[in-house]
Amino acid sequence: MAGRFTGRVAFVTGGSRGIGKGIVERFAEEGAKVAFIDLNEEALAETTNELREKGYEVFSKVANVVDADQVEGAIKEAYEAFGSLDILVNNAGVIRDNLLFKMTDSDWQTVMDVHLKGSFNAARAAQKYMVENKYGRIINISSTSALGNRGQANYAAAKAGLQGFTKTLAIELGRYGITANSVAPGFIETEMTMETAERIGVPFEQLIQHSVANIPVGRSGKPADIANAVVFFADEKSSFVSGQVIYVAGGPKN
Ligand SMILES: NC(=O)c1ccc[n+]([C@@H]2O[C@H](COP(=O)([O-])OP(=O)(O)OC[C@H]3O[C@@H](n4cnc5c(N)ncnc54)[C@H](O)[C@@H]3O)[C@@H](O)[C@H]2O)c1
Repeated sequence: MAGRFTGRVAFVTGGSRGIGKGIVERFAEEGAKVAFIDLNEEALAETTNELREKGYEVFSKVANVVDADQVEGAIKEAYEAFGSLDILVNNAGVIRDNLLFKMTDSDWQTVMDVHLKGSFNAARAAQKYMVENKYGRIINISSTSALGNRGQANYAAAKAGLQGFTKTLAIELGRYGITANSVAPGFIETEMTMETAERIGVPFEQLIQHSVANIPVGRSGKPADIANAVVFFADEKSSFVSGQVIYVAGGPKN
């Protein structure tokens, strides 16, 4: 049966686990051929096998979004394997939380590099194919932390920066049939938030309960919640929606 994304090719960074994996799965379920890259070799192999066992056509490669050559190379290979590049999701991310006075240069730089330089590298490489084809959907994963969050001066700056980056791509690339939008998740249950719980020394369940207390819909988010918003922006029919940020956080954020 033809799906909404049959005939489309999606490329997802950091697609091996968590939100990225949820996005990869959703595109595959809806008929797209999916390519994804990740730094985590083990998780990449596991997710690739899992998807192939389900019969999906996927391309995956170990690549670091911070390294322009690696990203360009992977995007080129995916394009050659699948014959097109229609959708790019910049999802790869890391956190290096610390209060400002304890934040190191490296905490700052790593977060800027992965989120901002990484998204820049992938978008610049992808636009070449999209412009040629006069079609594209770029979706950047921001965060509610873009609005400010204690202990995340680096991450908040990067995620807010990503929103400005998104709007600029929308302005520059619109004439080529390319839209650029941003999805800004709230608290989502993934390995990233599990690692946060570990780092601050509370059981994951407790961190979830604490977060849910401030979430109007009364539950925490799952990767599928984010994938849902991503596929809305990625849809061919969403061609008049560009430069937008949608907060997927179970309620409004201040
Ligand atoms: N989990 C949340 O609550 C939450 C909330 C808001 C925004 N986000 C954002 O969503 C995205 C996904 O987060 P997640 O919770 O799934 O995290 P995660 O840590 O579970 O997954 C991130 C993936 O990105 C990969 N990655 C990291 N650095 C990379 C690099 N340099 N090159 C290639 N791959 C790299 C990791 O190996 C991992 O597989 C991130 O951008 C994150 O900032 C997450």
